[in-house]
Amino acid sequence: ILSRHSVRLPLLLPRDRVFKTTQGIKQLFALLSTGTYPILPVFPAVGGNEGVGEVVEVGRKVTSLRPGDWAIPWDAGFGTWRTEAVCEADDLLQVPKDIPLLGAATIGVNPCTAYRMLQDFVTLKPGATVMQNGSNSAVGQAVIQIAAALGVKTINIIRDRPNRQELEEELKSMGADFVITEEELQCLGLDNVIQELPKPILGLNCVGGRSGGLVLSSLCDGATLVTYGGMAKKPLQIPAKSLIFKNITLQGFWMTQWKRNNSKGKLAAQSSLTLTFE
Ligand SMILES: NC(=O)c1ccc[n+]([C@@H]2O[C@H](COP(=O)([O-])OP(=O)(O)OC[C@H]3O[C@@H](n4cnc5c(N)ncnc54)[C@H](OP(=O)(O)O)[C@@H]3O)[C@@H](O)[C@H]2O)c1
Repeated sequence: ILSRHSVRLPLLLPRDRVFKTTQGIKQLFALLSTGTYPILPVFPAVGGNEGVGEVVEVGRKVTSLRPGDWAIPWDAGFGTWRTEAVCEADDLLQVPKDIPLLGAATIGVNPCTAYRMLQDFVTLKPGATVMQNGSNSAVGQAVIQIAAALGVKTINIIRDRPNRQELEEELKSMGADFVITEEELQCLGLDNVIQELPKPILGLNCVGGRSGGLVLSSLCDGATLVTYGGMAKKPLQIPAKSLIFKNITLQGFWMTQWKRNNSKGKLAAQSSLTLTFE
């Protein structure tokens, strides 16, 4: 149960910044508020994991940001469903001001997740193929666009729906090479539908269950499957032959952990953001 409260802002300390926020709302909050996410908020808590703020005032020792700059929270659980915040200088990451506000408010999680997954697990040369499910998700759309910019081909699984053609065209306009439904893949198998591309060397699993197993079974020998979501709320189906005969590697990715592992290297994150914007 959520309720709205007004709170008094704490006094500004020399290293603090005050900033006003614009929020992005995400399904993650449902997981946070039901306690199924690895970050457990201390109640009473402010919801919201993503958002952009405008710096309105800085403490006298702050040199990295100035009033008027835009910034996003560095870590998960900041609580962006608020109008203003006073926080430590290190809690924020500056973002460019010449991008759409909504893009800035949502850049910190989904597009960065897509970018890191395309960078960190296998070396993707131009012409290589990536296969994903949940391809119309926010992360999936970012994967399509970033892969296309890198010259990497994508095979994109969606669920069947009455406006399937419309969605296929939309994803193709973003750079998707192939769009296929779970049902078609299950029925026909990848080899009978797509012969033009090399078999995928990287699979990205947003869904789990049968859908994740379909991605796994479609990968080439020695490929990697990265699981980053569990939208079907069902365990990933892993055919034994994928592990025994194809030597597929199973990995997981969590953007929050990546940020924490790289918290000393904010420059790397900043360059990740800049590349994602480009
Ligand atoms: N690990 C990380 O660091 C990280 C970072 C960002 C996001 N995530 C996770 O990634 C997932 C996607 O996030 P998002 O913000 O991109 O989501 P989103 O934009 O809300 O999209 C949700 C996607 O899940 C699909 N979906 C929903 N229920 C499904 C089901 N029962 N079976 C198959 N597909 C289903 C939807 O397909 P339909 O259109 O067919 O419903 C859609 O493609 C979430 O699980 C999120 O928690 C993880």
